[in-house]
Amino acid sequence: MTTETSSSPQAAVAPLSAETIALFDRECAKYPPVPSGRQSAVMACLTIIQKQEGFVSLERERQLAAYLGIAPIAVHEVTTFYNMYNQRPVGAYKLNVCTNLPCQLRDGVTALVHLEKKLGIKMGETTADGMFTLQQSECLGACADSPVMLVNDTTMCSFMSNEKLDQLIDGLRSATPGAATKGA
Ligand code: FES
Repeated sequence: MTTETSSSPQAAVAPLSAETIALFDRECAKYPPVPSGRQSAVMACLTIIQKQEGFVSLERERQLAAYLGIAPIAVHEVTTFYNMYNQRPVGAYKLNVCTNLPCQLRDGVTALVHLEKKLGIKMGETTADGMFTLQQSECLGACADSPVMLVNDTTMCSFMSNEKLDQLIDGLRSATPGAATKGA
């Protein structure tokens, strides 16, 4: 059983809090006012939003654009370019499998298909228990180690045979309290 991410990422959200604005201010202060000024802090500010809320909604993008004094599309371009920014809620473990050409030639797609079967979801979906979100990614800079994947944007996993993928998923499930009772 699978689920699309639960709540609507486009629902109305509260204004940016004073605490969030203060964090934005701190990031903006790290950059000189010219030539690009506050716009240079866009990635850091997006990271702050995602850390607080788990993803970056379109409304938050618009609020950030207003804060930075730039067009909303300039923020949206960044959010959609980098895999590390979630545009909707994701599972506890976000699995990004590289399927770029060099990895395609070395079982990258095989790894993705194996994970789809193992998790019972398609690429882009989240398991019903909210544990795993499966995504494709562009080159992770480790082509010689294919199949490669990135877990939660931070942990690189190399040479991911089907056996190692099974070990990873089973290990994450057993290490997560309550996972065994959540189904999937
Ligand atoms: S193409 Fe997959 S890591 Fe480079």
